[in-house]
Amino acid sequence: MSHAVQSRAPIQALRASRIREVANAGMGRADVLPFWFGEPDEVTPDFIRDVAKQALDDGDTFYTQNFGLPALREALAVYSSRLHQPTDAANIAVTSSGVSALMLIAQLLMNPGDRVVIVTPLWPNLVEIPKIMNAESVTVSLKLDTTGAEPSWELDLNELLDALTPGTRALLLNSPNNPTGWTITREQQQIILAHCRKHGIWLMADDVYERLVYDQTAGHIACAPSFLDIAEPDERVVSTNSFSKSWLMTGWRLGWMQVPTSLMADLGKLIEYNTSCAPGFVQKAGVVAVERGEEIITHTIARYSKARDYLFDQLSSPFFRDAGIIAPRPKGAMYLFFRIQGEQDSLALCKRLVADAGLGLAPGSAFGPEGEGAIRWCFASSLERLTLGVQRLENFLKNHPTARQP
Ligand SMILES: Cc1ncc(COP(=O)(O)O)c(C=O)c1O
Repeated sequence: MSHAVQSRAPIQALRASRIREVANAGMGRADVLPFWFGEPDEVTPDFIRDVAKQALDDGDTFYTQNFGLPALREALAVYSSRLHQPTDAANIAVTSSGVSALMLIAQLLMNPGDRVVIVTPLWPNLVEIPKIMNAESVTVSLKLDTTGAEPSWELDLNELLDALTPGTRALLLNSPNNPTGWTITREQQQIILAHCRKHGIWLMADDVYERLVYDQTAGHIACAPSFLDIAEPDERVVSTNSFSKSWLMTGWRLGWMQVPTSLMADLGKLIEYNTSCAPGFVQKAGVVAVERGEEIITHTIARYSKARDYLFDQLSSPFFRDAGIIAPRPKGAMYLFFRIQGEQDSLALCKRLVADAGLGLAPGSAFGPEGEGAIRWCFASSLERLTLGVQRLENFLKNHPTARQP
């Protein structure tokens, strides 16, 4: 006799990643150009890899402190203080990836039934994590504004403030945003922070793309506006971050968070029971990345900036416009999230693009129902590869004039 052996109901209800669903259809096929994941196409620089190799050769194979190596916490405090307001290593916790930092924050702050407001479309992990805690998510959708000189994703601030009702537990906000590249302004931050303060709402800022910003004034350190610039010490603001995007270290699984002092003791317990610590040799590589990695960031911004402009110019050209594509120029992150007018099944379209055109893109519906009708293209790539990708999309649309739903 078979008994149904099942996980908790909220876990069963989690959505499987639609980006994966498309990628599974094309991974391992040498003829597919993959732009589906949010990952740079360059390996981590040598000077970072060398430190990890040396640490392993020196026998660094042991547990470290729950909050991370003191040297790394110190380096991150100096780094954060340079970008934002002064902070202390005592408020920094090193984590085994950015996504692990997000999960820890959810475990730390979200009760079952808590109302959590999320600005969408959004990277699926951020939408699903509150569900693991049985929290109730309410979404506020960015809008594609087509009235200006260029289309752009915009936040309706009043709609967000209306959603942040008294009793709301937290606002989860990712800026620069994955998938749209939308980047919050300082003025919006000030209004949101004042509102959250008034109602005792936690602000959870996912800052992993804070360094990937374009169109910054020359001579200024490249960084998106952050709540860490304006928050009082020890108020209800937490920031999560990662080594993945700034220092080309996706596979290393290293992140950190900056939290009020009063949370640290409980956070330490959670880190102990989740991962106990990040690997020591990885953390040592993290120290050199933070201390000597500014050049990588400058190089990456210059590279992605060209890639962004190239992709934007192509997708805004008459051919693609006539095909119904509305392409906004992202202000940050590494994705162009374009809409195809009339398209109602981005998942099916992305699967057809893989099968028929050898082009791997991420379906907009992976980022919530608000993303349906759009497609995400990760432009962290060489111009040569992007050019090939654009040609494939063009050929596909020429050969499939009815590819889109009428
Ligand atoms: C918005 C956002 N937050 C967090 C992460 C987590 O990065 P990681 O877990 O690689 O540190 C990602 C990765 O794609 C992301 O897009």
